[in-house]
Formats: sequence, structure tokens, C-alpha cells
Amino acid sequence: MSDTPSAAFSSVATYYEALFDPEARLAREGSLLRSVFEQAPGRRVADIACGTGIHAAFLAGLGAEVDAFDLSAEMIEVARHKRPHQGIRYHCGDMREVRGGPWALALCLGNSLSLAGGIKGVARTFSSVGNALSEGGRFLIQVLNYRHPDALQSRHTVITKSVEGAEITAVKSLVPFHEHVLLSLNFFAHDNGRFHTCSDTAVLYPLALPDLEHCASASGLRIVETWGGYSQQPFHPTASPDLIVLFRK
Ligand SMILES: C[S@@+](CC[C@H](N)C(=O)[O-])C[C@H]1O[C@@H](n2cnc3c(N)ncnc32)[C@H](O)[C@@H]1O
Repeated sequence: MSDTPSAAFSSVATYYEALFDPEARLAREGSLLRSVFEQAPGRRVADIACGTGIHAAFLAGLGAEVDAFDLSAEMIEVARHKRPHQGIRYHCGDMREVRGGPWALALCLGNSLSLAGGIKGVARTFSSVGNALSEGGRFLIQVLNYRHPDALQSRHTVITKSVEGAEITAVKSLVPFHEHVLLSLNFFAHDNGRFHTCSDTAVLYPLALPDLEHCASASGLRIVETWGGYSQQPFHPTASPDLIVLFRK
């Protein structure tokens, strides 16, 4: 497979959260995160490709000391503004070369590993995370399951939401293209009769369990558990919406 460019969501950082409800996400994702954090051998956590910082803030609320990284300086600015917390240090940083630690737990959630720029970028991410984890440290990743029937078709989602007085219409498209998936994010903010628009695109690199297993073992990590979704159902290669994997150093 060819390499793909990595893509930060800088242009859309201001409106990115119009795509989801952070509280609803944490209600769905929080119990798995909590139990993984409780089993980690320490409180130091890295949230890699943290976006607006919802997972960093959730874990900081449980007592974690979090280093939260995103490639986009604009996204880090939004995260700092929306979710300041004394337990979080925000950094502008590339998942493929994160430095710091030692962390007891690293997270890469929200399908972010698919943005690493192809299998070489994924391998570099595992290598840099593997180096920065403490002995027995965990790495939790969540990507979309690209073999699910929904992921094999083009999908377009339209969400409307009111954000700080502006009416936002967000349009998200996922279009399979040969071995990749083309992602477009478009935001139309309507405020006092005027429109402000912004867009970002990314080429997603679909990841399967053997890819992850290969990159992990080359970096001294092994799989502890796999799930097919945040409710911790077993992973099924064609029926699960997500692929969630917990690795251990
Ligand atoms: C789909 S969002 C997920 C954000 C967050 N983890 C969540 O679950 O809400 C992907 C994020 O990855 C960031 N990103 C893309 N490439 C990256 C890279 N090479 N290193 C670090 N962050 C990256 C983007 O800027 C964006 O904020």
C-alpha cells in the first residue's frame, strides 16, 4: 500500500466539536477509559492526537497527569480554551514522534491512527509510544473497522448545532477510494445573517488488526485485549463498528 499524507484539522478546529456531543461521547466511551486507566501501572497519561481534549480532561478528572498532543496548533489552542485543567499539559506534537513520559498509559482515539500517513506512520507512532511507555505501560487505540459493511460505502452526515450564538451546519463525508477513505469536513457557520465557512480534508489509511499487531510487536508491545466497540463487545472482523485494541509493553 502507498503512503498517505498526514493531516491536521487546523482549518476546522474552531467548529470541530459541532460534529459530536462531548458528553454523549464520554457517556459511551468513559467506562472503558476508566477501567483501562485504573489498570495502568501509574497516573501519567499521554493523549495522542487529542483534538479538543475530551479524553485528556476526562482522565485528568480521574486524577491522571496528562500530556495531550495534537499536530494542529489551532486544535491545541481550542483544547486549552475549552478544557483547561491543572492536570493537563497541552503540546503541539506529531504522533509519529511523541517525546516525553514515561507514561503508564497512552491513548490514540477517535480513529486518529488512520491519519498517521499510512503504515510507515503507524509504525513510527507505535515505536515512539513504545519508547515512551513505562514497563507494563498500556497503549489504547480506537479506529473504525473498515471491514464493516457501512465503511465500504460512501457516507455523508449532516449535523446542525448552535455554538456560541452561531448556527453551525457540519457536513462530514467518508468516501472509499481504492485502498483509502477520503474524508471531507465542511462547516457553515451562520451568525447575524453572515456566513463563515471552513473545510479540511484527509486521506484515511484503513487499518486492520494484523497491521496493528505487526507494528506493535516491532515496538515491543503485545495485545492484551481487543473489542468491537466501547461497550466492550468482542471484536468481529466484519460486524463490529470499531476496532479497539489495548497493548502492553
Ligand atoms: C478525528 S480527530 C480525533 C481527536 C480526538 N482524539 C477525539 O477522539 O476526539 C483527529 C485529530 O488528530 C490530529 N492529527 C492528525 N494527524 C496528526 C499527527 N500526525 N500527530 C498528531 N495529531 C494528528 C488532528 O489535528 C485531529 O485533531
